[in-house]
Amino acid sequence: STNWIKAIALADVPDEDVIAVQAGGREIALYGVEGNVYATDNLCTHGNARLCDGFLTGHEIECPLHQGRFDVRDGRALCSPLRDNLATYPVRIEDGVVFVAL
Ligand code: FES
Repeated sequence: STNWIKAIALADVPDEDVIAVQAGGREIALYGVEGNVYATDNLCTHGNARLCDGFLTGHEIECPLHQGRFDVRDGRALCSPLRDNLATYPVRIEDGVVFVAL
């Protein structure tokens, strides 16, 4: 069965920006994009960089270390030097709280 973990208040998810949260013993990046919330691993698949320190433009998060870009909706790696896609997690919003399925 799906394990929904309480992540953060919806009001604390920044608009058109990224924030990191601890959920289920790991660090997840949450993105507010056009009224939707997306969740991915916070660690870049290319190296030791946290995507919450990167730059969100539309649905694309740019890694702060080598400027690799992922689509936050499906974790797809969009350019070099990235080779591996990013893990994404389903998001559910209930009563102003964001839950993530881990
Ligand atoms: Fe993210 Fe290299 S660590 S692109």
